[in-house]
Amino acid sequence: MKKIPIIIDTDPGIDDAAAIGLATHCEELDIKLITTVTGNVDINKTTENALKLLTFFDKDIPVARGMETPLLQPVYGSEVHGESGMDGFDFKASTHSVIKEHAVEAIRQLLENHDEKITIVPIGPLTNIAMLLLLYPKLKSKIDKIVLMGGSLSGGNMNGPAEFNIWADPHAAKIVFESEIDVIMIGLDVTNQALIGEEELSAAIKRGNKTAEMFNAIFQHYRDGDMENGVVMHDSCAIAYLLNPEMFTVERKHVKVVTSGPASGMTMEMFEELETNVSVATDIDSALFQEWFITILDKML
Ligand code: BDR
Ligand code: CA
Repeated sequence: MKKIPIIIDTDPGIDDAAAIGLATHCEELDIKLITTVTGNVDINKTTENALKLLTFFDKDIPVARGMETPLLQPVYGSEVHGESGMDGFDFKASTHSVIKEHAVEAIRQLLENHDEKITIVPIGPLTNIAMLLLLYPKLKSKIDKIVLMGGSLSGGNMNGPAEFNIWADPHAAKIVFESEIDVIMIGLDVTNQALIGEEELSAAIKRGNKTAEMFNAIFQHYRDGDMENGVVMHDSCAIAYLLNPEMFTVERKHVKVVTSGPASGMTMEMFEELETNVSVATDIDSALFQEWFITILDKML
């Protein structure tokens, strides 16, 4: 089977943990590198969490530590995902360690030395990817596409119109959106419809699934025990898109990133007559997503 070579750029993070779990158990994906970025928690914690997840899943994938602060704006303190970013489960200390290269350098080396183009899957703020494009613009030709979780055309989850990953580093997002790379925006318009709840997890736990136990613990903690409406699997949607694009409705659009003012971080759809710059996922088959999630979950521990 021909595998899809990818780099995951992440800030674990509750739903990042689920996305990494799924991605590492999809045999069609060849994860060449995981890079970390400040986002849901600071870079020390996101990096440690990525290492803990690979230890939990017993997967040997290089991890490179990335940008500590957004490109221009000050770093924010975010603890929406708890103090550690993955509270609620007692993860074993990681037996993996980071590689010595900075994330941006590690991505450069990989792109330069890999014959085929690689797909980048950012599921956190876009700081590392923007730095890569600023430093090494020629490497754009080595990127197959960027499938990112971020943005929204239908209202945000931060200051009103902005979604977190874009809001956290809007200048970086602007660089990525204007890069002329094939960018697929998997935003809140679809991710808010991708829910996993207690029912699905309990059934997997009854089947003896240890990963479902871990997910249940961190999701419960995140939702203060209120799992009635399920937990939104934002980042897993980007992984789902890689393997099942038919699960999504995607439209070409012209989207601008607002970088200042009260709507900073907003991804704003512009007039139709402007040339398009991104593909936006505008709808998702939620039932199919749930089915896919559970199928991969059943392949885990
Ligand atoms: C995004 O923000 C983060 O909190 C999640 O991990 C996801 O990547 C959703 O807005
Ligand atoms: Ca994330």
